[in-house]
Amino acid sequence: MNFEFTEEQKMIQQAAKDFAERELLPDVIERDEKSEFPAEHIKKLSELGFLGMMADPKYDGGGMDTISYVLAMEEISKIDSSVAVVMSVCNSLVNWGLEAFGTDAQKEKYLRPLASGQKIGAFLLSEPEAGSDATSQRTTAEDKGDYYLLNGTKNWITNANSASTYIVIAQTNPEKKHKGINALIVDKNSPGITLGPHENKMGMRSSDTHSVMFNDVKVPKENRIGDDGFGFSFAMKTLDGGRIGIASQALGIASGAFERALKYSKERKAFGTEIFNHQSVAFKLSDMAVKIENARNLCLKSAWLKDQHLPYGIASAMAKQYCADIAMEVTTEAVQIHGGYGYVKEYHVERLMREAKLTQIYEGTSEVQKIVISRSLLK
Ligand code: CAA
Repeated sequence: MNFEFTEEQKMIQQAAKDFAERELLPDVIERDEKSEFPAEHIKKLSELGFLGMMADPKYDGGGMDTISYVLAMEEISKIDSSVAVVMSVCNSLVNWGLEAFGTDAQKEKYLRPLASGQKIGAFLLSEPEAGSDATSQRTTAEDKGDYYLLNGTKNWITNANSASTYIVIAQTNPEKKHKGINALIVDKNSPGITLGPHENKMGMRSSDTHSVMFNDVKVPKENRIGDDGFGFSFAMKTLDGGRIGIASQALGIASGAFERALKYSKERKAFGTEIFNHQSVAFKLSDMAVKIENARNLCLKSAWLKDQHLPYGIASAMAKQYCADIAMEVTTEAVQIHGGYGYVKEYHVERLMREAKLTQIYEGTSEVQKIVISRSLLK
């Protein structure tokens, strides 16, 4: 086993760290307060090639591996998860699925501008009554011969307003249950699409989350991904990789909070000494460090499996569940170590704690990951 990163992986990690510290840190608190989409920062991120970092260079992608993606996601998420989630959705949920299952024409038309970072994508699976229970899709894609007629509502859609390209999961043949579901590529500007208001979220407040309504939206037949009825399988396979992205995001939130707590503990004095010298604080930091190391190893293992073209769905569910859960624990302890300062905005850890909570909810709750993992134990 080799735990060394390559020179290229280290360079990507450093580039992500520099970008996050230079470009994202200065106004992250303000953007969070205003719940303002970081359009300029995303443009710069795309210029660095991070929105299409794993896509094939043949389609203007970066051709980087999943390990590099984990390293970059961790660095960006240490500072600003609202930016990291855009990167994760574009790379894992949109570009990967298009590249793995799209036709040449679909890749040319839709993947190329996404992989080069000129455009942003969104993945529309969740519905008001189909969150964890993803087979219960109510959005319909009625087969009208040359086109599908799309009707319904999607909820909690990241990048809903900023994206140009949607991948929409919808039911065509309800009698076939999940085998009647399709995945369609939809231009966001298509007539009949309206957006709900920007969601006023607890954390990741500047990411762009809306509900999306489809009212008789015509989608050409050639925009279906894969065979008729492939949509649910497509969504599940896509989420297997998406969970590596969100696991790395949770890891970054945890390690960002840890680094801040460690620094603070070496500066802040109480009872005549730096608080790190109190065992109650040092042991907290020790526990946090162990959890983060475990989390990082789970992320890297699932990324490595994916890069080796080995099955990675269970590993990514384990990484997603563990990283999200420890992100919540580590950020809570980071706030505790900061005392009163942890509860105000300037020290960042209260924001990281709010961001951590979302990683336990989206791209499959921690409970969904346990369904995936426990079912694998039965097999
Ligand atoms: N790969 C391929 N196929 C898979 C699969 C996978 N990982 N997981 C399941 N399937 C297939 C099964 O084999 C089965 O197919 P067959 O009938 O042919 O055997 C079919 O899918 C149905 O599988 P299940 O019976 O396991 O389905 P289920 O209804 O019990 O649900 C679940 C399983 C894991 C709970 C699933 O519904 C799930 O993952 N739910 C969570 C959805 C989710 O993550 N939503 C997040 C939205 S995206 C988001 O959040 C993005 C963002 O904004 C950041």
